[in-house]
Amino acid sequence: MSEISNGEQRTAISDPLIFRNVLGHFPTGVVLITGIADDGEPVGMIVGSFTSVSLDPPLVAFLPTAASQTFKRLRTAGSFCVNVLAADQEDICRRFAGRTANKFDGVSWHPSPLGAPVLDSVVAYIDCTFESISDAGDHLIVLGAVQELQVCSPVAPLLFFQGGYGRFAPLSLSAPFEADLITGVRLAERGRAEMDRLAESFDAECTAMAVISDQMAVNVAVAGTGPGTADRLGERIPLMPPLGELCLAWEDADAVDRWLSRALPSDECTPEEYRGRLEAVRSRGWSMTMRGEYKDEQIYEALREYSSGVYTPAQEREIRQIISRTSSSYAPVVLDEGQLYDVDSLLAPVFDSAGKVRLVLRIANLPRQADSAAIQGWADELRRAAHKVGAAADTVKVDA
Ligand SMILES: Cc1cc2nc3c(=O)[nH]c(=O)nc-3n(C[C@H](O)[C@H](O)[C@H](O)COP(=O)(O)O)c2cc1C
Repeated sequence: MSEISNGEQRTAISDPLIFRNVLGHFPTGVVLITGIADDGEPVGMIVGSFTSVSLDPPLVAFLPTAASQTFKRLRTAGSFCVNVLAADQEDICRRFAGRTANKFDGVSWHPSPLGAPVLDSVVAYIDCTFESISDAGDHLIVLGAVQELQVCSPVAPLLFFQGGYGRFAPLSLSAPFEADLITGVRLAERGRAEMDRLAESFDAECTAMAVISDQMAVNVAVAGTGPGTADRLGERIPLMPPLGELCLAWEDADAVDRWLSRALPSDECTPEEYRGRLEAVRSRGWSMTMRGEYKDEQIYEALREYSSGVYTPAQEREIRQIISRTSSSYAPVVLDEGQLYDVDSLLAPVFDSAGKVRLVLRIANLPRQADSAAIQGWADELRRAAHKVGAAADTVKVDA
């Protein structure tokens, strides 16, 4: 119940403000329904009430208000076309949701198979004939019989929620991380001198990766030079097998299970093999990756896309596939004396005093074909540096 000024009580269902407020907590997609009116002019109406209805026969629906002037014109068209707006088309949405005349002026479009406007850069269109129009309170329910449909650009669609616009963000590989990110940046900054020294002495690239959550690490500091070194800063690394072993090796069984649950079924490595890798990393105290058969460019491109935070669930599945294919490059290697190795990078954990891994130091772009003694020497030096950086861990704010 809500009380209004004259003391009269209104129930939630009779108060339009409450009705709108509650339903505003439910998000919708945003589409532009277009058609060519009987006067030959294009018409367009923004609608959040679009939905798929039936597969057999293929039907969709939307609900215009009975009072809508735009729909009065739209229903004179022989067909209508649903334009699924992309997340970066808020300006188009605002233009068509307004009451200005000539909404199509300056807007690029081409005719759909049935002749209705398909705007440039929309995610998809669904071309329909009118199946039925029925009354529903102060709205109408328009059923459309789907004749043609196509995905034009598989990007994230525009969403509407509580009166504002936004985009879809997959939960699975991302996580809220600001506080932990800042803590990681501060800690890496304390370790700056060590990182610079390492990069110089190895003539390699040294990065510090902050563990942001059990889902993600972010490169928060970079020292030295190498191809693409500058791009490493801010790069996000999803903690899914095979990535993130050093972040997980000292974690409890639940965290390890969550990490393993993110492995793809197609991964060539079994959960037991991954547990073995964690054990190997734990007992060695550092890890090493080898140059793999996978294309470096492909994995970096996937990580760049992941780092942008702008990807659809389908693109996320692709990113995960690419990461999963790198599995063999992370297989633990036992160093044999005198043997040469094509090492890609060495990594060591930075612990706080509670034994939690807060950063991972990584040196990359090392000389090719190094022998076991050289690698062991680099690893020892890297671990000493990680230990020194860790000494500062408890003096920066660390959120538990
Ligand atoms: C995100 C969003 C969703 C909307 N959804 C609907 C809808 O489902 N049905 C409707 O009739 N109007 C909807 N509108 C309002 C219309 O787009 C438009 O403002 C209205 O048709 C203009 O009034 P007119 O048709 O009388 O000119 C929505 C507007 C926005 C911004």
